[in-house]
Amino acid sequence: MEDKIALVTGASRGIGAAIASHLAAQGCQVVGTATSADGAAKISEQLAGKGHGVVMQLQDSGSIADAVAEVNDRYGMPTILVNNAGITRDNLLLRMSAEEWGAVMNTNLTGTFLTTKAVIRGMVKARFGRIVNVGSVVASTGNAGQSNYVASKAGLEGFTRSLAHELASRNITVNCVAPGFVETDMTAALSEAQTAAMLDRVPLARMGRVDDIAAAVVYLAGEGGGYITGQTLHVNGGLFMA
Ligand SMILES: NC(=O)c1ccc[n+]([C@@H]2O[C@H](COP(=O)([O-])OP(=O)(O)OC[C@H]3O[C@@H](n4cnc5c(N)ncnc54)[C@H](OP(=O)(O)O)[C@@H]3O)[C@@H](O)[C@H]2O)c1
Repeated sequence: MEDKIALVTGASRGIGAAIASHLAAQGCQVVGTATSADGAAKISEQLAGKGHGVVMQLQDSGSIADAVAEVNDRYGMPTILVNNAGITRDNLLLRMSAEEWGAVMNTNLTGTFLTTKAVIRGMVKARFGRIVNVGSVVASTGNAGQSNYVASKAGLEGFTRSLAHELASRNITVNCVAPGFVETDMTAALSEAQTAAMLDRVPLARMGRVDDIAAAVVYLAGEGGGYITGQTLHVNGGLFMA
C-alpha cells in the first residue's frame, strides 16, 4: 500500500484513529478528519509525518468539499476512502425527536454519500479505488432505542452494494466492515449492567478492540481484498453470525 493516499473520516479517536495508524503503518499517506482544529492537530501529531489531520463536518457539504480539496492540493486525490465517522442519538421511537433522527441520518448516511461523491471522480480517473464504509452489527440484528442509528447503518450497507455494482468496471471495490461492540467513547456511555449483558452474548467473551476493526479495514483496502466487493465483513466476536 506504499504511497497510496487514504482519507479516513472521524480519525481523531476510537476506531478511526486506529484505522488511520494501521494504514500509515502499511505505507499510506493518510489524511484523517476531525470536527475541530484541535482534533485535526491531534491526528497530525499521531500520524507523525505519515499524513495529517483536517477539519471536516459531515453535516455540512461545504466543509466536506473544502476538506477533499485540501487533500487533493496537498497529496492528490485519495484512492482509499474509509467512511468511518458516525454518531448515535439513542431514544425509543415514541420519544425520538426529528432532530435526533435527522442528526444521525445526516451524519452517518448523507455525510457518507457526500464524502464518497466528492472522492470517487479521482478513483475513476486512476482506475483504482478502495472504499470501506464502517457499519454496525445492529444493521443486521436491529436494536431497541436505536432505530435512527440502525436505519442509517442498514442504509449504508445497501449504499455499499449499489456503489459496488456502479464502480466495479473501474476497478474500485466498495465494502462495509460491521463492528460489534468495541471499546471506544461511543460504548463508554453504556452502564456496567448493559456492558455485562452484552458481553454474555459474545461467544469470544470480550469487547472488540479498535485494532480488530482496523485490521479488517486494512485487509479490504489492501492487495488481499482486491477480489471482494459489495460485501459486509462482520467483526463482532461471534455476536452475530450471518
Ligand atoms: N464503538 C462501537 O462499539 C461501534 C460499534 C459498531 C459500529 N461503530 C461505528 O464505528 C465508527 C466509529 O465509532 P467510534 O466508536 O470510534 O466513535 P467515536 O469514538 O465516538 O468517534 C467518532 C468519530 O467521528 C467523528 N465525528 C463525529 N461527528 C462527526 C460529524 N458530524 N462530522 C464528522 N466527523 C464526526 C468524531 O470526531 P470528533 O473527535 O471531532 O468529535 C470522531 O473522530 C462509527 O461509524 C460507529 O457507528 C462503532
